[in-house]
Amino acid sequence: MIGIGAFALTPKMSIAKTGDNSFELVAGLSDLKLYKEDAAPSSLWTYNGIAPGPEIRVKKGERIQVKFTKRLEEPTSVHWHRIRIDNKMDGVSGLTQEPVQPGESFLYDFIAPDAGTYWYHAHNKSWNEVARGLYGPLIVTDPEPVFDKDHDLILVIDDWRLGPDGALDIASIGSMMDWSHGGRLGNWLMTNGEIFPKRRLNAGEHYRLRLINASNARVLEINPNQIGAKVIGYDGQTLEQPFEVPYTPMLLGPAQRIDLVFTPKSGESYALQEISGTKPYPFAGFESVGEKTASNNPLLPAPNSIPEPDLINAKTFKLEMTGGAMAPLGDAVYKGQKLDGNLIRQSQQVWAFNGIANLADDPFFSIEKNQTVIVEVINKTAFLHAMHVHGHHFRVIERSESEIDEGKPWRDTFMIGPVQTTKIAFVADNPGKWLFHCHMLEHAAAGMTTWFMVS
Ligand code: C2O
Ligand code: CU
Repeated sequence: MIGIGAFALTPKMSIAKTGDNSFELVAGLSDLKLYKEDAAPSSLWTYNGIAPGPEIRVKKGERIQVKFTKRLEEPTSVHWHRIRIDNKMDGVSGLTQEPVQPGESFLYDFIAPDAGTYWYHAHNKSWNEVARGLYGPLIVTDPEPVFDKDHDLILVIDDWRLGPDGALDIASIGSMMDWSHGGRLGNWLMTNGEIFPKRRLNAGEHYRLRLINASNARVLEINPNQIGAKVIGYDGQTLEQPFEVPYTPMLLGPAQRIDLVFTPKSGESYALQEISGTKPYPFAGFESVGEKTASNNPLLPAPNSIPEPDLINAKTFKLEMTGGAMAPLGDAVYKGQKLDGNLIRQSQQVWAFNGIANLADDPFFSIEKNQTVIVEVINKTAFLHAMHVHGHHFRVIERSESEIDEGKPWRDTFMIGPVQTTKIAFVADNPGKWLFHCHMLEHAAAGMTTWFMVS
């Protein structure tokens, strides 16, 4: 079932760029074949006709303008996943902006303060819109990038769910079974819209691989050691030093990114595999050309400067995650009303944060600008989650009952398993209304969404 993939490993470029740092994104319908030749075409929703959408690449500190036009019937908005952005540009329908209506446009205009690997995606009914293809890579480079364009490779990974005809399974989008379990899991893993794409790389040269998990809910399991690669960044933030992952598998949850540095050796071919299934599934291949051996260690991009949390003077807030299959939600508050277990299920809500399902009028907490916040997240559900904070990067400062130990890097999305408690800390330095939600998009829709206010 593995295609003979062309030697291409970059999202197809399209006409996104319309001028210096001006881009145009048009959300519309497209018929693409996901299962390839003999498949039925899928009716996807895409940016500029392709999935993933076009690569947006800018330099750190520069201003970006994206004219977004909507040609779909459903309203939508675009979220710039974890750029430290002006709140008005965060693209969250119903919180930071009104959704863009069919035929309308919206100008996103912001500065990208940090270099790194980011992505953009629809943020109105994301469980539906992202599952249909509304996402793409957003790369912010250093003013003088250490890895030039040929040595800087993006891998946007998505697990589509296909039906028996090889087309996107649309009927199952929104299935309550998915919402109350592990989210919508696919059965067809693609990288940059290709099946197991392969690329020739020069032996002895250093490459940066930017892995982006664009799945609705799939936690990818990978082992960078398979290709001798080291981690140089998480969620867009570069580490001080390359990290050789001492355990396997390494989890790449929905919305998370990992940057790797990889140096192919002469005469070798390599495959990065997804290893959660019974059989490893290769999703990106590399073949080396030439005879060179590396003569130096890779230079690394400089870390961004993000304000360090002041743990001594921090304010702590607790977030209890409840609900889902195996630990059903009892009474919970939804849209300001206390509902009993039955009624809440009828409202398609099956998860809650501190007893509240989904966005409430009142924030989870309000905080003054520049105050350090610690959020203690207690997972009382039987599932793994991928918790994401908008507008801020945090450090994971404590994990209980978890074997993951990656130090305390900056993150924007952290994984939390059943019965685990995790503490994160960040300086709330960005005023506005910010979402805090599970990035398993079905969980977010079914209750795991809240927000906080920085004034
Ligand atoms: Cu990428 Cu609210 O998320
Ligand atoms: Cu979740």
